[in-house]
Amino acid sequence: MLASTSRTAMNDEGRHSVSFDVHRVRDDFPILKRRIRGRPLVYLDSAASAQKPKAVLDAMQVAQETIYANVHRGVHTLSQEATDAFEAAREKLRAFINAASADEIIFVRGATEGINLVAATYARKFLSAGDEIILSELEHHSNIVPWQLLQAEKGIVIKVAPIDDDGNFLLPAFERLLSPRTRLVAVTHVSNALGTVTPVRAIIEAAHRAGAKVLLDGCQAVPHLAVDMQALDVDFYAFSGHKMYGPTGIGVLYGKKELLATMPPYQGGGEMISTVTFAKSTFKEPPHRFEAGTPAIVEAIGLGAAADYLTALGREAVRAHEQALLAYASQRVSALPGLQIVGRAAEKAAIVSFVMEGVHAHDIGTILDRAGIAVRAGHHCAQPLMERLGLAATARASFGLYNTMEDVDALADALKIVREIFA
Ligand code: ALA
Repeated sequence: MLASTSRTAMNDEGRHSVSFDVHRVRDDFPILKRRIRGRPLVYLDSAASAQKPKAVLDAMQVAQETIYANVHRGVHTLSQEATDAFEAAREKLRAFINAASADEIIFVRGATEGINLVAATYARKFLSAGDEIILSELEHHSNIVPWQLLQAEKGIVIKVAPIDDDGNFLLPAFERLLSPRTRLVAVTHVSNALGTVTPVRAIIEAAHRAGAKVLLDGCQAVPHLAVDMQALDVDFYAFSGHKMYGPTGIGVLYGKKELLATMPPYQGGGEMISTVTFAKSTFKEPPHRFEAGTPAIVEAIGLGAAADYLTALGREAVRAHEQALLAYASQRVSALPGLQIVGRAAEKAAIVSFVMEGVHAHDIGTILDRAGIAVRAGHHCAQPLMERLGLAATARASFGLYNTMEDVDALADALKIVREIFA
């Protein structure tokens, strides 16, 4: 067994000062004290939804108890304080992804809504029959289905960039798909099912050279990697709060200011208008134009706290800890007889998908649960990817900043028992 990581790593400013003590970090997450079926919880399902630290839970509770009111509407003190806290959260998210302006941060329900927003506004307005969108074989359903809905409506063409058998994104093959009709490239930054980190800089540069815009699904990237909108020069970037240790029901769509300015509203209602008459309405500037109705106020404040939490831990320290977990888990799992890791891309986030000969992934998940271990089993909302790999399902252990080397050992020991049961 390896010792748990308690490390000193370079922080984001390059100082050798961030001490990452995983056991101290675990104390921030009350749910990790739970026992499941009499065993300590081993939570290996953070890619589906990560647990929340007390800092996030407290920020939400304090907001509810002390400043809660509707935002952007009232002249009264509480409404102003709630508005200030809500807009302060937008600024925290701006800083978290290094967007140039807080006006580029649109609060949405999650990445799914963010991608649907781009499809329903930008793409519906600017794409016409025969225009092309490029996706990849790695995509989650949320970055496939919105484009198919648009395809049915407008006759756009969907092309799919291939991967190799290890799950690597094939850049030259992608570049060959670019054409004068390519208007948008919509791909994942990190695969939820395999952990592949895609070569986003090269993808963006190639797409821009071809005159296409780029949308990245950053759901699985933001919990693991520092992302920088200005350095990437990406056009749209969507992510969900609950995968980055924040609440459900809130996420961010980043869009370049000059693009957002050209886009029509997504939904109509209160909050997004400047004036309304029965003859005609006029709309606010972005981001408010895209935020109809009362937003998820407390959740936005919680998401701001999650961004603060990750930043305070040090993104590089988190990445280093998770990469150590990934290396150890890959080694332990692949050493088990009859087990095969699915997804061995050159660059990966801490996600280990696997299959066991003769055992359905759901059975693996159910037996692991008896040992207190939570993994996801199934197609991971990526059915076309499973089809590409010739699989119906995998079991997936996805790691977060609170996981330990002991968690990996618990997984490997429990998988040995699964093997014995089905031997
Ligand atoms: N997209 C989430 C996952 O990968 C739900 O599990």
